[in-house]
Amino acid sequence: MPEDAPSWVVEAVGLTRVFPDAVAVRALDGVDVRIARGEFVAIMGPSGSGKSTLLHLVGALDRPTDGVIRVDGQDLAAVDDLDRFRARSIGFIFQMHNLLPTLTAAENVAVPMQGIGVPAATRRTRSLELLDSLGLAHLAHRLPNQLSGGQRQRVAVARALANDPSLILADEPTGNLDSTSGGEVVKRFQSLAHEHGKTIVLVTHDPVVALAAGRIISLRDGRIDQDEQVDEAYVNQLNALRPTPLGRLLFGERPVAGSEAEPDQPAQPAQPAQRRGS
Ligand SMILES: Nc1ncnc2c1ncn2[C@@H]1O[C@H](COP(=O)(O)OP(=O)(O)OP(=O)(O)O)[C@@H](O)[C@H]1O
Ligand SMILES: [Mg+2]
Repeated sequence: MPEDAPSWVVEAVGLTRVFPDAVAVRALDGVDVRIARGEFVAIMGPSGSGKSTLLHLVGALDRPTDGVIRVDGQDLAAVDDLDRFRARSIGFIFQMHNLLPTLTAAENVAVPMQGIGVPAATRRTRSLELLDSLGLAHLAHRLPNQLSGGQRQRVAVARALANDPSLILADEPTGNLDSTSGGEVVKRFQSLAHEHGKTIVLVTHDPVVALAAGRIISLRDGRIDQDEQVDEAYVNQLNALRPTPLGRLLFGERPVAGSEAEPDQPAQPAQPAQRRGS
């Protein structure tokens, strides 16, 4: 990494988003957060706590009412061509995956490359490589409605990676998936963060998915309620809960902490274990 490279991929200072309504809604209320390269962060919190709002601001899909948001060291308020910035630096995966129904899997993956003028032959080759890396090479010619939900979601992951972004934002990407397909997607995120240095910010309601991340940020009423590293002590505490009625409610029969994604080993924190203050 060059010496002048920004140390934080995401840096928010006093990030605030107010939606005008009969009573103004403070969807985000002065959020300070810094996320480093290679971190895999899960955002949790009750419905309406501001998770999607935060993701939209980080992804430059919305503008803050107040505060500053920097991505890759760039103040988003100062970026001239946000479309281009997004296409180059950020990969998006949403619950509804938004694949274009009339394009094949490979063509869907190629869409972001078209946006930044990658030549057609390169687009084709790279789409196939990406689909191959997600175990979907043999389905490249299929339309979205000829794929299973898990396969479609993996096509959406491939599309998010098309322009090799440093930051991947995912809003409930496993929400519609059974635990096997969800586990595959999560496993891919872990490898992108740990092996390829990508920064992943993933919104989820699923504690098992969140525990596969290295850090969990919980929002409440537009503010950061907790910000914790997923370390061994944390996982052990949760494992101790498993036999209790609350544990069964939270985790069902599923294993805790990334063991679903990586059967042989416990989840590896992206950074040395440490608790952060909230
Ligand atoms: N465009 C909008 N106009 C008005 N209010 C909005 C708008 N978008 C979001 N809100 C409000 O802002 C708050 C935060 O919404 P947000 O979508 O960020 O919640 P969330 O944590 O993602 O919830 P969920 O888990 O249900 O997806 C909510 O009270 C919501 O009603
Ligand atoms: Mg949401």
